Amino acid sequence: MEQFPCDGSTRVRAELEVHDIVDTSVNETDAVPGTVGVGEAIEDWTGDARFFEYSEAADPIGDGVISAIPAVSFPAALYAGGPSRIVPLDLSEELRTPYPATSPALLASFVRINAGDELSLQPNATSQLLYCIRGRGRSLVDGKVVRWKEGDFVTLPATTAATHVAERESALYHVVDTPLLEYLGAVASTPRFRPTTFTAEATQAKLAEVASAPDADRRSRVSVLLNNRRFDQTLTATHTLWAMFGVLPAGRTQLPHRHQSVAVDLIVDCLPGCYTLLGDRIDSGSAQIVDPIRVDWEPGGAFVTPPGKWHSHHNETDRDAHLIPIQDAGIHTYLRTLDIRFSTEESSSP
Ligand SMILES: [Fe+2]
Repeated sequence: MEQFPCDGSTRVRAELEVHDIVDTSVNETDAVPGTVGVGEAIEDWTGDARFFEYSEAADPIGDGVISAIPAVSFPAALYAGGPSRIVPLDLSEELRTPYPATSPALLASFVRINAGDELSLQPNATSQLLYCIRGRGRSLVDGKVVRWKEGDFVTLPATTAATHVAERESALYHVVDTPLLEYLGAVASTPRFRPTTFTAEATQAKLAEVASAPDADRRSRVSVLLNNRRFDQTLTATHTLWAMFGVLPAGRTQLPHRHQSVAVDLIVDCLPGCYTLLGDRIDSGSAQIVDPIRVDWEPGGAFVTPPGKWHSHHNETDRDAHLIPIQDAGIHTYLRTLDIRFSTEESSSP
């Protein structure tokens, strides 16, 4: 795009160009308010315009005009066996979208690839995040090879065509921001980062470091956040996606918290007796969730945490459990709308 520095001569030039355009496209003597002239044709552009009295349209979320985001679980049985395939965690019916979506901005999928098989993906996405649930393989990305194994994360930018090849039976958790682009009517065309691998060894080493810190018992989370150094303001895995690898220690309960991003959580491992509580309100005395619903964890299963819902994670077993929440918190942080809160702040506030 041509740049116009702020000086008088250039401004005159810009005004002349606008004047020229008006002269060639609209016959001012025929112009009618609410219509646009294109050559000799006059088209009525008012047909889709309408108005509401303020209170009728001020809160489409609260009024249920736009659908709520449901708290839904997806079992590991969806990809436990069978042929190589993509299993979208599709809530498009609940979200009333004409395209697959797990949340308004994200589509999460299980990807099963049997040994020796390959599967190609080229989503319209600014960001792809892959986590290797099990197995081992490689991805051919723009003529280069990215290797992965159980516990590795890989992020891929816009326009990436990747062929994923399994060297043994493999399962991947794949999250993209395609629904956000579908909603915008946009095609991602500019890579904002390079393909990036967060290895299992590096992730687990950082988690061990965090867990062994003297104040780990007093922290609300024992977790690591993935960050691509190119996003040094949002501190997220990509500019749209946020990803965490966390441990829920045996016998521990994490304090409730909430945020406006939607989470699509993957449970890595757990024993029966690990679960998440979800609800709309916090008891001001106990700082616990009032009338919660319970979502039980399952190794390899996933579930959706809606925006703004209070949620707390519970481990009533004698073994540590691990989870990977992935959220659209990159874009929320950029928009300054993440609004993360913890129940202790809420219950102690006046
Ligand atoms: Fe959360």
